[in-house]
Amino acid sequence: MRTLIKNGTVVTATETVEADVLVEDERVVLIGLSLEAEADRTIDAFGRYVMPGGIDPHTHMDLPFGGSFCSDDFATGTRAAAFGGTTTIVDFALQGTDEGLRPGLDLWLEKAEKAYTDFGLHMIVKRIDDQVLKEMDQLVGEGVTSFKLFMAYPGVFMLDDGSIFRAMQRAADSGALIMMHAENGGPIDVLVQQYLAEGKTDPMWHGRSRPSSMEGEAVHRVFKLAELAGTPAYIVHLSSRDALNAVREARDRGLPAFAETCPQYLYLSEDDMARPGFEGAKFVCSPPLRPADHQEDLWKGLQAGDLQLVATDHAPFNYVGQKDLGVGNFAKIPNGLPSVEDRFTLIFQGVHDGRISLSRFVELVATAPAKMFGLYPRKGTIAPGSDADIVVFDPNHERVLSAQTHHMNVDYSCFEGMKVRGLPELVMQRGRVLVENGQFHGSEGQGQFVRRSRFQEP
Ligand code: URP
Ligand code: ZN
Ligand code: ZN
Repeated sequence: MRTLIKNGTVVTATETVEADVLVEDERVVLIGLSLEAEADRTIDAFGRYVMPGGIDPHTHMDLPFGGSFCSDDFATGTRAAAFGGTTTIVDFALQGTDEGLRPGLDLWLEKAEKAYTDFGLHMIVKRIDDQVLKEMDQLVGEGVTSFKLFMAYPGVFMLDDGSIFRAMQRAADSGALIMMHAENGGPIDVLVQQYLAEGKTDPMWHGRSRPSSMEGEAVHRVFKLAELAGTPAYIVHLSSRDALNAVREARDRGLPAFAETCPQYLYLSEDDMARPGFEGAKFVCSPPLRPADHQEDLWKGLQAGDLQLVATDHAPFNYVGQKDLGVGNFAKIPNGLPSVEDRFTLIFQGVHDGRISLSRFVELVATAPAKMFGLYPRKGTIAPGSDADIVVFDPNHERVLSAQTHHMNVDYSCFEGMKVRGLPELVMQRGRVLVENGQFHGSEGQGQFVRRSRFQEP
């Protein structure tokens, strides 16, 4: 099967060129001017950008969290991702309580059998012992090359500094990447209990109990520990100026210090958590949304390269039936926001707004995630030999984000009513059209598990 994408503007992290792209079976085979190759199908991409499919390296499909399960599973979540221009996700398998890593990984591979897009897996490690450290090495050999650890949620996920350090030492040997949820869970839990005891139970107190200083402190600690262990480290869902300053300080010292931010921290703020009634629960995630003046710093971090990429931390919970578990007690609101479908277009607004170049956009949503998480050059770019994961993007299509029209399995949108410009018109995975003009053509289970290679600096 040969597909020729003609007359478009091909955008990669390094170039923007008027060129045609020839796809044969699952791969890109040729990029050139006015290609005259024979093809089974020709797609006219005039006036469109032809870009690598988005890679979202931080999603949670079907994750049990806070007494509930994320409302998207691998079928609904990857379908929505595809509508939004994302063709690969990297989700987080979860270590079970009192188990090693293997059962959690097997469970996630089973959950992911329904995926429409390709996917990789990280592993969340809740407990460190000699056996778990050995299993980490085994998993690296199987293409699960990154591990998320938590400095927050005492009694559930949180690891002490000694355990974190042991995992980092192991990663230094195996070439794995340690990803950190960096918030200091001890004082945060004290504040949570104090606010609740004072009757401060509304969603906004979720934000007040998790101050940005405790994110900054944790990020600083991550890089000190990683420096001692001699390993790179990566901060997930970085939300605040304080945390960004700690990343910058480490990078300025020449350390391999990396971080992602997410669309919610670039567009939403603590004011959303303080919406009247219980509506603020729609915006409860951790780290929490910050005062709006942090957003500008985060955009600057993306421009300057102190933040390497944008992921979603997609963790959807319905407002009715899930978020409302926390009526009268903000600590019982399941933490997380839906955005896997919106990331590509929301970050593209940065191009319209003159904040980032076209190539930097591609780097942030596709190339840097591919490099950071061992998927490059198979994914994350358009080049001869790479997977034909391609988005034909209309940059000027005006639309309004809404739960009425999105495809995520969740009853609200955090970005309800927001006007955006840009639409992934045609989305292709390994040469097969998944989405075209609003119609879905995927079949359940067509997504493949991608064994990732070890960390390479983007
Ligand atoms: O609130 C969040 N971020 N929920 C998802 C789990 C996590 O910590 O990434
Ligand atoms: Zn986290
Ligand atoms: Zn997450």
